[in-house]
Amino acid sequence: MSKPLRVGVAGLGTVGAEVVRLLARQGDLIASRCGRRIEVVAVSARDRLRDRGLALAGIDWRDDALGLAGDPRIDVVCELIGGADGVAHDLVGAALGAGKEVVTANKALLAHHGTALAEAAESKGVALGFEAAVAGGIPIIKALREGFAANRIERVFGILNGTCNFILTAMRDNRREFRKALAEAQKLGYAESDPTFDIEGVDTAHKLAILASVAFGTPVDFAGVHVEGITQVGLIDIDFARELGFHIKLLGVARVTEHGLEQRVHPCMVPIAHPIAHVDGSFNAVVVEGDFADRNMAVGRGAGAGPTASAVVADLIDIARRQRLPAFNVPVADLKALPRASMDRHRGAYYVRFTVVDRPGVMADMTAAFRDAQVSIEALIQRGRNPGDTVPVVMTTHDTEEAALGRALARIAALKSTREPPRMIRIEQF
Ligand code: HSE
Repeated sequence: MSKPLRVGVAGLGTVGAEVVRLLARQGDLIASRCGRRIEVVAVSARDRLRDRGLALAGIDWRDDALGLAGDPRIDVVCELIGGADGVAHDLVGAALGAGKEVVTANKALLAHHGTALAEAAESKGVALGFEAAVAGGIPIIKALREGFAANRIERVFGILNGTCNFILTAMRDNRREFRKALAEAQKLGYAESDPTFDIEGVDTAHKLAILASVAFGTPVDFAGVHVEGITQVGLIDIDFARELGFHIKLLGVARVTEHGLEQRVHPCMVPIAHPIAHVDGSFNAVVVEGDFADRNMAVGRGAGAGPTASAVVADLIDIARRQRLPAFNVPVADLKALPRASMDRHRGAYYVRFTVVDRPGVMADMTAAFRDAQVSIEALIQRGRNPGDTVPVVMTTHDTEEAALGRALARIAALKSTREPPRMIRIEQF
């Protein structure tokens, strides 16, 4: 058997502790698959005294994570601290600079600094593994880089945040109030340390920017992602969606259009007939559309200790087996930037909900706004009778350009009979 791969783990939170546990428990299995053992030789975390239920005897403890980067006894630095900047960034930069392989689960880091870090790894001929950064336990980076390598990717999209999917499912199925569902997701260890990253769509955007880069061979462009979270989705929308034949999911969608690279994260109406509508709870799903492979959907746990640790260790196993691929699928010098496609040019169907006073003529004013913006209405629901008081009015549109819909909504928002800002949810077509 070759000599062991020696790993330094930085960060012993939910994921870091599970990586140490997994490597201990599956040591023999992994060794038989790699032809060598993977050994944790050093760890670093903030609080040495915390009981994590880990057997750390014989493993070096470092108070300063940065010390791992220069340690000649370490082959791979496993960064599980998190955060786009600060210690995580310093450590990964220093480790790559010192010619060490790096494995990280840090999507924020990759979303903000991915291209530069990939360049640093390439210049030293070492791996930068980040399977765990996208969709937890689903091996989607590996699938894109290897299984779909023969395809031109046309669109990649998915449910990329377990917390949001858990919340939306609990709201729909258990009529759970938003905050309560979020607290439950936090308790189960799905949420980010700052859960606003989950519910505001930022975590999904981090993952989407990474996926888009691997799928389309473009530099990571997090700033080019259009981001909306789930805080505006009401139970009322979930109910109307079901009535119209949809479930609401927070999707990240990336595709190359005639206007450039479209990267968007927002709540979507997805047809109940599509399997992604049934990916519930903390599960994630990633759909890859390739020109030869056609449409594939992978489903798995997108968050939590076990699935994320599984993905981290998969990267370590690749390194132990001496399998190295360009981080973003092609060498950094061959990544090609594309213009950002503006959301104004996005074409699709829309769900809109208005809160208006129930009195004669209001519907005529609303439909006139649609007519003048040249937006075609597909369906309309107005139920209930509440003379002089408010009622919800829901419409769906045929395909239209978002800028045109925006003109209609602005005009309706300004009507005297409108009582709340219109709510819009895009309908995703498959
Ligand atoms: N907060 C993330 C989620 C964890 O809820 O999916 C995995 O990145």
